[in-house]
Amino acid sequence: MSLLRVSNLTVETSLDGKTLVDDVSFSIEKGESVGIVGESGSGKSLSALSILSLLPNGVRKRSGTVEFQGQEIAAENLQNIRGNRISMVYQDPMTSLNPMMKIGRQIEEVLEAHDLGKDSARTLAALESVRIPEPEKCANSYPHEFSGGMRQRVMIAIALLLKPDLLIADEPTTALDVTIQRQILNLVNEQKRANNASILWISHDLGVVAEMVDKVIVMYAGRIVEVGTVAEIFENPRHPYTVGLIGSLIKRKHQQKMISIPGTPPKPWTVTGQCGFADRCSRVLPNCTQQKPELVELGRQSFACFNPFEGGLI
Ligand SMILES: Nc1ncnc2c1ncn2[C@@H]1O[C@H](COP(=O)(O)OP(=O)(O)OP(=O)(O)O)[C@@H](O)[C@H]1O
Ligand code: SF4
Ligand SMILES: [Mg+2]
Repeated sequence: MSLLRVSNLTVETSLDGKTLVDDVSFSIEKGESVGIVGESGSGKSLSALSILSLLPNGVRKRSGTVEFQGQEIAAENLQNIRGNRISMVYQDPMTSLNPMMKIGRQIEEVLEAHDLGKDSARTLAALESVRIPEPEKCANSYPHEFSGGMRQRVMIAIALLLKPDLLIADEPTTALDVTIQRQILNLVNEQKRANNASILWISHDLGVVAEMVDKVIVMYAGRIVEVGTVAEIFENPRHPYTVGLIGSLIKRKHQQKMISIPGTPPKPWTVTGQCGFADRCSRVLPNCTQQKPELVELGRQSFACFNPFEGGLI
């Protein structure tokens, strides 16, 4: 049984039913780290937010199920799972931290909400675990007194406070500079190992994802276009979009201009009965604009493409 299983998730705009996330299915095993990668607007955040029913105003789930340890997440068990078994870290810690409340108090509130009472030793230990210097001083400070990197550490401390089985991290390092980003990645990896937690790591940066996870999900225009282990994705990418992403990464490593896929992705709801990547694809066939390619499984790797790369090209 998978730790988490998302099946046929479709998300739409509430007002006019435009598809934003289209039939997304994936699973995460106990202790496994999974990454979702894709350009801005590809549906990464909406897919992640759907897991804990945290979709923003203006969008809603049209269909699909989310199961945690074999049980569907529904209104009855949502509060217990949220924070306790699955927790989330967002890109901007200020959206989750209360600017008017001292950090120590915010941590205690989480403990109290889960009937663990006010526990200052545990609060300080949580801050120490993410290597915050002078944890007592930190506990007595307000979020604005800290840098972005330190606030993100506080958020990670809070997210890991109740030793969740799954940590969902939605671009938690994007706003940080490279050195701080590295420290946060190391920290999350260390904490993951210490707690044997699973991770769902979301990023537009394939390089970051590759460092953090075992399995990569590539999203494009609201759909999953390829899934594979990091080794499979890098050594044997099958979908032309994945190949493009790897190309961008290699160019960036060599300090060249980053964009290697010309054009922009279409809005998911405009893609009907064809491949959403057809306009940008160098391998397009007549079939690609007449039919939607479904995700086909080949061993542990899956891809949705009528004319995939045959492998080993990178
Ligand atoms: N509250 C909302 N109302 C209407 N449309 C939305 C809303 N939130 C997101 N969308 C749209 O849904 C699509 C997917 O958004 P999502 O935030 O999941 O993308 P993303 O892959 O996380 O992008 P980014 O890398 O920019 O965070 C986008 O086209 C976006 O404009
Ligand atoms: S299905 Fe066709 S257009 Fe789409 S990625 Fe594959 S080859 Fe390119
Ligand atoms: Mg996002």
